[in-house]
This record gives sequence, C-alpha cells and structure tokens, in this order.
Amino acid sequence: MSEKIETYISAEALQKRVRQLGEEITKDYAGNDKNLLLIAILKGSVVFLSDLMRNIDCQLAIDFMVTSSYGSDTVSSGNVKIVKDLDVNVSKYDLLIVEDILDSGKTLSKVIEILKTRQPKSLKVCALLDKPERRQAPVELDYRGFEIPDEFVVGYGLDYDERYRNLPYIGNLFLSPEQNDK
Ligand code: IMP
Ligand code: MG
Repeated sequence: MSEKIETYISAEALQKRVRQLGEEITKDYAGNDKNLLLIAILKGSVVFLSDLMRNIDCQLAIDFMVTSSYGSDTVSSGNVKIVKDLDVNVSKYDLLIVEDILDSGKTLSKVIEILKTRQPKSLKVCALLDKPERRQAPVELDYRGFEIPDEFVVGYGLDYDERYRNLPYIGNLFLSPEQNDK
C-alpha cells in the first residue's frame, strides 16, 4: 500500500483554533435566553465536536445525525438521506451544527433545510474546514476553522475509506498512481 500523508494542519494549530472557536461560541451563546444544542453529523465530526464542546463555557446539550449520500465515496451525490435522526425535539433549542468539512455543501444545505422546517429558536453552522472552491450548494458558515484548497485531507475525524480518523493532525493524502486510476 503506497499512501503518503503530509501534515497540513498540526495538532497544535488545530487545538489553538478550536479554542478560539470555543471562545467565540461561548460569547455568542452565554445569555440566559440561549439554549444551545450542538448537532454533529457522524462520523467525521466526532473528534472536532469532542474538542470544541470542552472549549465552550456555557450550558449546552449535544445530539447526533447520520446522513448518507448515494454515489461514490469521495464525491457527494447530493441525494442526501437521513439514516439516523436527532433524538430531541429542536423547537426549544438554539441549534449549532458542527461539521468536519464543508465541501460541495450538498450534505449541509440539505440538513439545514430539514432542520429549519422544525422551527428551532435559531440555527447556525460551524465547520472546522471549508473548501470554497468545491461549493455547489450555497451554505452560510457562522464559524469557520480553516479555509483550505481543493485537496483531499484526512485525520482529526476525517477518513479515507474509514481509515486515518485517529490522526491528531490534518494531513494531505497522496495515493499511488495505481490507486488514483481506480
Ligand atoms: P459535501 O459538502 O456534501 O460534499 O460533503 C461533505 C462530507 O464529505 C464531509 O462531511 C466529509 O465526510 C466528506 N469529505 C469532503 N471532503 C473530504 C476530505 O477532503 N477528506 C475526507 N472527507 C471529506
Ligand atoms: Mg462528514
């Protein structure tokens, strides 16, 4: 197997940025009138969520959603389906969707559309990584960790074929020519 990974965002840089995002979110949701619910879309967002929530210093709850899109692994088809829905009724909550990476935007725009119909108190979106060049469906980000070019990255929750999620940093994945041809 000839795959190579080069560090793109170090573990230290990630921790620093996640701390800043947590501080920003804390400021925005600190009031007594706020009732924050973090919604993570599995599986890629688990590492980011678990670090981010520990850097948010206000009352919050968490919940999870699983979506699937039909089509190939690395390209979102846009045909997004909810495989596991939230456990809670969102009408009393200020929702903050926590995503690992915003790519074509197809997944997030669909999830946002679905959640809006449930009439939450408010709805904002936080993504650790943003690849604006890849956007096909518009999504307004309220909190963005890093803007990155159109390159495939792994680590810190992000996978290639379910691997590399456990890397503490974000890396560029380089595949051997044979694999690229597949
Ligand atoms: P989209 O915005 O609907 O195209 O899909 C976003 C999802 O695609 C993310 O939540 C990731 O699961 C996956 N994804 C997009 N780009 C990458 C990448 O560079 N590495 C790993 N997964 C990615
Ligand atoms: Mg994902």
